[in-house]
Amino acid sequence: MGGERKYDIGGVAVANPIWLAPLAGITTETYRSLHAQLGAALVHTEMVSAAGLSRENGKTARMIGGRCGVPIVLQIFGPDADTMARGAECALAMGRFDAIEINMACPMPKVAKKSGGASMLFFPDESCRTVADLKRFGLPVWAKIRKTEPGRHPLSTVDFCAALMDASADLIIVHGRTPAQRYEGASDREAVTSLAVKFPGLISASGDYYVPDDAKAYLDGGCVSVLAARGAMRDVFLIPKTLCALGFPANEKYLNMPVPDQINLLAETGREAVRNEGERFAVIMVRKLLSGMLKGISGVSRLREDCAFQKDWASLEKILTTFAEAGKKIPVSRSQSGLRPQPKINNALTSDIL
Ligand SMILES: Cc1cc2nc3c(=O)[nH]c(=O)nc-3n(C[C@H](O)[C@H](O)[C@H](O)COP(=O)(O)O)c2cc1C
Repeated sequence: MGGERKYDIGGVAVANPIWLAPLAGITTETYRSLHAQLGAALVHTEMVSAAGLSRENGKTARMIGGRCGVPIVLQIFGPDADTMARGAECALAMGRFDAIEINMACPMPKVAKKSGGASMLFFPDESCRTVADLKRFGLPVWAKIRKTEPGRHPLSTVDFCAALMDASADLIIVHGRTPAQRYEGASDREAVTSLAVKFPGLISASGDYYVPDDAKAYLDGGCVSVLAARGAMRDVFLIPKTLCALGFPANEKYLNMPVPDQINLLAETGREAVRNEGERFAVIMVRKLLSGMLKGISGVSRLREDCAFQKDWASLEKILTTFAEAGKKIPVSRSQSGLRPQPKINNALTSDIL
């Protein structure tokens, strides 16, 4: 991808505005590499506990390790500015990152109960102190937030963003659901784009990006980038389809991939996951990826069922290669080619949609 046009977004040089979101338990080194290969111009680590980083154990180091040829953002969560700064310092000693992002968005009790994640929306002063403190590492500092709720949070989303920017945040990613919504209901796109208009060049979008037009609407509304999350889990090729639809350079081979090539991509990703994250994780990851691939291909439901019972990589790989051999005769359907919009899916965590 050398020599291509770069955009400066939030202090990071990127090739396009379509990025991979942080996804706990999913955006491992292998998953990040896969999406970088598919065209994401920037990837996130999954959220990492700042306190865990300070107590460094091998597991945390593995969560954030590895480069994949595109900028990588370290996302951390923690209860206060001091813990975050200590955690960031440890992470930066372990690896190279292009920005540090503070998770002010996670509503799950495991994170939010300890004043981290979306709980930070209740404490604007500490949130701002955290941003300001992290600037000492010389990297851009980003925050990922959710829409706040009037009457529940002390500041409106606009005022919370303004405060973070006064504290020198370089970029704010806004997920247009409130913490109370968790991952249910619609994400408020209008709330995100109205922030983008108020803070030009400083707002990225997250929420309900399932088809290229969703990303287009965010970008047309003034957002500087869009994060692929459940949409990319549902359709592994969402990012290259979006790049093509929006006129950014995209690798054509991912737009109309024959069945055996999709299986080879899957198997190669599985082998990389065995090396990076271990066999158990690789098997789970490949089964999840499979649910977002080969849509509309005959026999795929059966393939998914067969794969669901495999516990070791060798058996899973054998099933995949057998299917690929048979698939050499199967043409790619029009719905797979990216020429037609994909159906909008609201609950992307539900598994097989065939
Ligand atoms: C399984 C899963 C794990 C997630 N993990 C994180 C995380 O570690 N950090 C974070 O900021 N957001 C996390 N999110 C939220 C996503 O990054 C994204 O903001 C959210 O899913 C909204 O986008 P969507 O509606 O397009 O899925 C996670 C979401 C899901 C579904």
